[in-house]
Amino acid sequence: MPKKKRSRFHLTTTLDVLDELGIKMYTNSAAVLSEIIANAWDADARVVDVAVMGKGAARTLSIEDDGVGMSEVDINARFLTVGYQRRDVKGGGVTPSGRKVMGRKGIGKLSSFSIADVIEVHTVKGRSRLAFRLDIAKLRARAKAKATYEPDEIPCARDLKKGTRIVLSRLKPKVHMADRYLRRRLSRRFSVINTDDGFEIRVNAKPLTLEDREYYDKFQYVWHYGDDDLSTVATKATHREARSGNVATIRIAGRSVRCRVQGWIATVETRSQLASADDDNLNRVSLVVRGKVAHENLLEETTEAGLFATYIIGEIRADFLDLDNATDIAASNRQGILENDARFEALIAFFKKELTYIGSAWTDLRNREGTEKALAIPAVFAWYNLLSKDEQRVATSMLGKLNSLDVKADSERRTLFSQGILAFEMFRFKRNLSALEKIDAADIPKLSQVFTDMSSLEAAMYHEIVRQRLEMIRRLETLVDTDELERFLQQHVAEQLWLLDPSWARATEQPIMEKSIKRALNAPTGALMKKIAASRLDIKYREASGRHIVIELKKASRVVSTTEILEQVTKYEEGVRESLRAAARSNEPYEIIVLVGPGFSDWTDDVSREQSRRILAAKHTRVMRYAEVIANALASYQQYLQRESSATAIAAVIDSVNEADLTGYGAGIVVPGKTPRRQRIADQARTGKGGKSGMRKVVKQPTRRKSA
Ligand SMILES: Nc1ncnc2c1ncn2[C@@H]1O[C@H](COP(=O)(O)OP(=O)(O)OP(=O)(O)O)[C@@H](O)[C@H]1O
Ligand SMILES: [Mg+2]
Repeated sequence: MPKKKRSRFHLTTTLDVLDELGIKMYTNSAAVLSEIIANAWDADARVVDVAVMGKGAARTLSIEDDGVGMSEVDINARFLTVGYQRRDVKGGGVTPSGRKVMGRKGIGKLSSFSIADVIEVHTVKGRSRLAFRLDIAKLRARAKAKATYEPDEIPCARDLKKGTRIVLSRLKPKVHMADRYLRRRLSRRFSVINTDDGFEIRVNAKPLTLEDREYYDKFQYVWHYGDDDLSTVATKATHREARSGNVATIRIAGRSVRCRVQGWIATVETRSQLASADDDNLNRVSLVVRGKVAHENLLEETTEAGLFATYIIGEIRADFLDLDNATDIAASNRQGILENDARFEALIAFFKKELTYIGSAWTDLRNREGTEKALAIPAVFAWYNLLSKDEQRVATSMLGKLNSLDVKADSERRTLFSQGILAFEMFRFKRNLSALEKIDAADIPKLSQVFTDMSSLEAAMYHEIVRQRLEMIRRLETLVDTDELERFLQQHVAEQLWLLDPSWARATEQPIMEKSIKRALNAPTGALMKKIAASRLDIKYREASGRHIVIELKKASRVVSTTEILEQVTKYEEGVRESLRAAARSNEPYEIIVLVGPGFSDWTDDVSREQSRRILAAKHTRVMRYAEVIANALASYQQYLQRESSATAIAAVIDSVNEADLTGYGAGIVVPGKTPRRQRIADQARTGKGGKSGMRKVVKQPTRRKSA
């Protein structure tokens, strides 16, 4: 066998280094691709093309740049040298075209092995055209043997005109490569896109843009630090505020360095907006150094922001963390930053201070917005205007807070508003009551006002209760299936006695009575008990509105007759009377309700049914079919609502809140004490223009705090 020719390429490394810096370090394709793209930036490339080729197991990832390329010496001394320190060379921190270099440690390329088993490198520099193939299995074997690995030389791709092409193949099965995924993730990892940096990253031939990040449109409010990029993307933020990016002046390597940041911190309206597809949680503030993400989430460095922190997304760019003449700040595992560096500490202190400021501004803004939303409902607006100045202040904060609560459906928000207003009225009424003490006996009109207030409040509250009950009945109406109805009634009828009779208030617990009556109800023996057991689904006892109520539920499938029930309830009646007598409560009213699925076998027509009703009424017994329970309740509550509808001013407010469309703002509303934003909403409502889309003007916060 001829001796194998020595390759012109060689790489020496250890297994440890390989595992730690390559295979284990990166978990996703975007992180690996950013290392390769960062190298293209350092090679002064103007365009990097990332492309997914082939299908299934034959898929490959190709990353091609039009940068300076590598000669044989470059390949061996730089690319194939683990730990090549490019910035140790004088002027190594800046590229020939003047870019600040991203690379530093000489290990970035190893990350490719965490997603691919084979890496091909083709590179053109001047007249030199070279290519080689790295195979992880072979490299590992050589590293284990503590020997030098000689990658195979291969023919350089003919179509490569300039720069370097890296082809990753034999990709791990779970590597994500969907176009949208790559665009989203890569655009989020670089800030040098879509700017004047003269650097374009293309994914499958289409340039990345800031819009690919898929989050700018989620912003509700944004605070920015000299960030010009923001003006080039459409955010729907309704508040934009410029902040100073001055962090501190620190002495580094013998000279004073002014540390300042750029970027932005934004908040979203609802937290769920920060859950992004493919698990890339957006609730983070990434730290970008020299155009590339250096720390995934600065929020992890602070716990003080609490709940507010869960609404935040941001990007802070701090190039002062990577100065060529200072020690390296990136931890070698690349996931974080050296924590005890003075520059980093200063940055974190600055970040915390900013979070405190933004947190309180955020609360103010959310409160204001909430009040505006609620006041856009005409009836609420009218109600609000009748309050005194002091009360308006309290109402503003209440409505604002209610609006900040993270509820999903508008219907839930309507309920919040209406109950908030009721609660507010209660509070107002209580204060009125305490004023009662001070009222002079002669001041009858004032006194009667208090009572009018009270009854109108009660009416409003009852109105609200009725509305909620109706909503529940309507839901029950959809339970056409008798089995479901049977199950529902069995579970709830004893607690929701209003279903049986609107005049029955809440049931009260009477444990001793209950025990005694239940014992009596289960007392029958012999054939009668057998019959009862065969037809009974459940039996309940309650006391409500001073009345003792026994509810027997018959199985929905069971058809019974008047005679059969008469025999049973005669026994029940005896039992109830006996229990009442024993408790010395004989004079108290009682009622037995029998709920049946179908009607009685002897209910052949209206006459026979009326007869049956009269017979059982003598035994204080009422029979209702399951479906009738629902239908009767619906009818009586509807009647009530129609009759009482908006009978009182507060009830009218509540009604219109419950019917309000919260998706847009009401028309023609002028909110008292106009602020610029309120004015704008009013204008929008009038003209129907503006609003949702496009960028809004920067609005200065009226209560702007001074930043220290
Ligand atoms: N696309 C490329 N074009 C030209 N040279 C390259 C390219 N990719 C890598 N190199 C050379 O290989 C060297 C090693 O790359 P590697 O990514 O491992 O380290 P680095 O970029 O110097 O530092 P870091 O570990 O911080 O990424 C680079 O410094 C560069 O000289
Ligand atoms: Mg690199």
